[in-house]
Amino acid sequence: MALHPLVLLFAVAVSTVTLAGATDHIVGAHLGWNPNINYSSWSNNQTFFVNDLISFRYPKNMYNVFEVNQTGYDNCTLSGVAGNWSSGKDFILLDRPGTYYFICGNGFCLNGMKVSVRVRPLPVNSTSLEGAADGKHRKDESVAGMVIPSMGMVLGVAAAWIGIGIVWI
Ligand SMILES: *[C@@H]1O[C@H](CO)[C@@H](O)[C@H](O)[C@H]1NC(C)=O
Ligand SMILES: *[C@@H]1O[C@H](CO)[C@@H](O)[C@H](O)[C@H]1NC(C)=O
Ligand SMILES: *[C@@H]1O[C@H](CO)[C@@H](O)[C@H](O)[C@H]1NC(C)=O
Ligand SMILES: *[C@@H]1O[C@H](CO)[C@@H](O)[C@H](O)[C@H]1NC(C)=O
Ligand SMILES: *[C@@H]1O[C@H](CO)[C@@H](O)[C@H](O)[C@H]1NC(C)=O
Ligand SMILES: *[C@@H]1O[C@H](CO)[C@@H](O)[C@H](O)[C@H]1NC(C)=O
Repeated sequence: MALHPLVLLFAVAVSTVTLAGATDHIVGAHLGWNPNINYSSWSNNQTFFVNDLISFRYPKNMYNVFEVNQTGYDNCTLSGVAGNWSSGKDFILLDRPGTYYFICGNGFCLNGMKVSVRVRPLPVNSTSLEGAADGKHRKDESVAGMVIPSMGMVLGVAAAWIGIGIVWI
């Protein structure tokens, strides 16, 4: 039996996602890394995977970036420092799953310059469609799954009408 074109399309889409690789998540998007921005809103609207980058853009010498632990994040302290960056255009590799905490280390954390991101494990092994078990991919799959039965229904309904036609003749 030939593969349905939509199934092929889905397979291509999944392997494209896999090959396309890492996303660079620019903190705050066009607003960048600055005081008085709600970075929870920004973070909640992103999906982070292992090997993605997070990048901070800000005026050099005005702000900086510290990776801290949850205590540091909650209290705006340098508790559990794991790294610091200050180039004004810092790219940080998210190389393991889990939650990362970043704050501005010179006081502006108290003005909202803090962001936490939850990084998910890589969802897909390029050779295995069944590995596509994560949110967005599953959505694509269910869309394709819905289209196929409804085309089947159209054919079924058409066949029923032809059948009725034959009985009437
Ligand atoms: C930031 O936005 C989130 C919703 O995305 C909200 O729950 C939270 O209260 C906001 N924080 C502040 C300080 O406004
Ligand atoms: C979330 O992301 C979408 C698309 O990337 C964008 O259109 C939308 O404005 C974003 N929402 C927030 C609250 O940032
Ligand atoms: C910091 O935040 C934690 C919760 O993450 C809290 O238990 C602790 O009392 C706070 N204060 C200090 C000084 O660590
Ligand atoms: C953060 O690191 C500090 C210092 O090492 C430690 O006392 C604290 O328990 C850590 N907090 C968490 C949530 O791991
Ligand atoms: C910032 O990072 C450098 C290494 O990159 C380290 O030597 C320095 O102690 C760090 N500063 C703080 C305050 O953790
Ligand atoms: C993906 O497949 C490779 C072999 O093709 C294997 O070595 C690797 O462990 C797999 N990764 C996962 C997360 O299943």
